[in-house]
Amino acid sequence: MSDTVRCKSMIIDFDGVLLDYSRQRANFDTLNKLHNLAKAAHLKEKINGMFNGERINSTENRSVLHIALRAPRDSVINSDGKNVVPDVWQVLDKIRDFSERVRSGAWVGATGKVLKDVIAIGIGGSFLGPLFVHTALQKDPEAIEFARGRQLRFLANVDPIDVARNIAGLNPETTLVVVVSKTFTTAETMLNARTLREWISAALGPQAVAKHMVAVSTNLTLVEKFGIDPNNAFAFWDWVGGRYSVCSAVGVLPLSLQYGFSVVEKFLKGASSIDQHFYSAPFEKNLPVLLGLLSIWNVSFLGYPARAILPYSQALEKFAPHIQQVSMESNGKGVSIDGVPLPYETGEIDFGEPGTNGQHSFYQLIHQGRVIPCDFIGVVKSQQPVYLKGEMVSNHDELMSNFFAQPDALAYGKTAEQLLKENVPQPLIPHKTFSGNRPSLSLLLPTLNAYNIGQLLAIYEHRIAVEGFLWGINSFDQWGVELGKSLATQVRKQLHASRKKGEPIEGFNFSTTTMLTRYLEESAD
Ligand code: F6P
Repeated sequence: MSDTVRCKSMIIDFDGVLLDYSRQRANFDTLNKLHNLAKAAHLKEKINGMFNGERINSTENRSVLHIALRAPRDSVINSDGKNVVPDVWQVLDKIRDFSERVRSGAWVGATGKVLKDVIAIGIGGSFLGPLFVHTALQKDPEAIEFARGRQLRFLANVDPIDVARNIAGLNPETTLVVVVSKTFTTAETMLNARTLREWISAALGPQAVAKHMVAVSTNLTLVEKFGIDPNNAFAFWDWVGGRYSVCSAVGVLPLSLQYGFSVVEKFLKGASSIDQHFYSAPFEKNLPVLLGLLSIWNVSFLGYPARAILPYSQALEKFAPHIQQVSMESNGKGVSIDGVPLPYETGEIDFGEPGTNGQHSFYQLIHQGRVIPCDFIGVVKSQQPVYLKGEMVSNHDELMSNFFAQPDALAYGKTAEQLLKENVPQPLIPHKTFSGNRPSLSLLLPTLNAYNIGQLLAIYEHRIAVEGFLWGINSFDQWGVELGKSLATQVRKQLHASRKKGEPIEGFNFSTTTMLTRYLEESAD
């Protein structure tokens, strides 16, 4: 078979998104085997189970329906026999109304000023997705028009430096704080929320909180207890996993405040287009399925545990951190969905940086060190094209020259014979040789508008689900984050007892006791 025939079959075009996976270490035979594996793992049935609202997150007894968050208004998606789409749209309509009132100045702060700045407090899934979308939209020409004069910031870390950075230059009179927490119990988020409540109260009086703080949560009881009017709370549901929540009020509210609801609606439509494709396209042409199968091939069969996410777009600089959480929190598991220890490792080590910055950082290792399958993500039309007179190509063409070159450098490498022909001195030849045969895939988007950003998000979300379905794990719980949290509670109690009552450090191992002693001694007032 000619290489062209092979390559042609490995290029998929759907709704403007072009996937080329011909540089994977896979041939027709490999793909056949992977499709057989999908059959044996009941992949189709598992995807249907997700779309049908089955409780596939079995350890939390929940369905997994982030697809309902972006479903058209007239669709029917059931959870426990109830169509959840009307509830979704009720919240979306409420967000549209509220964000328009804030943006138009119909809703003002306690001193009558327009709320032009928003701080969204949240961490993990209540932060990374909205940050990714915000960063991606910031220089989109349409979004810029809607964002004029407004600022959106994100407060995630409990480190007081993050608070200081967030409030720097902001006036509480013109600031709206959105507290985003699925549980409304996350220690970092709640402390940050109390800190900003104090910031507002100290400047404007406690009654100002009602005008300056709103919430996004599934726990409306705790929202009210905190002092936020439940009318100013935007709900979502336990069938939305935190890291899959960017299309709920978690992302839609802050992004609508910044860009207007109409822009965010396009983002939802882009995600929905991929949902439909994922649900109905044959596996041979199904973008998330193919990507998921290839991930399994790389991790479980070829033994490459990491993946580099390399967008050739500065606007996508927060894409890799978001996908890192979605992927690693979803698929880093040690037991099967039935609780049986797995005889193989699951999950990928995801990391990434926009090109070309990454080329000047870690690509050396990818080219000549370890084999790390790469996802190259490119955009045809730049959000902010620059054409300098006298330059050979536009700035975007310059960027994209690298996007096209890197996959071939990885795939073909450079041999000693080629180097000899170039008169490279013998002692340098081993150092300048590139082994090649290093896998990558390329995704080319037509542009980077709200719609395409939604598509990109959904492609990766579903790819990660496919991987989890094939590994036979539960990709939708995250028990692995609990132990550290509970140990931090013990430390917090000890710090309080030692500082306030002078109690000795007790109950910790030698190493932790030593560190805690030093910390307490040297940070005492
Ligand atoms: O990191 C663990 C985690 O539970 C994530 O899954 C979640 O997105 C994040 O913490 C924040 O949780 P919450 O939205 O409940 O504050």
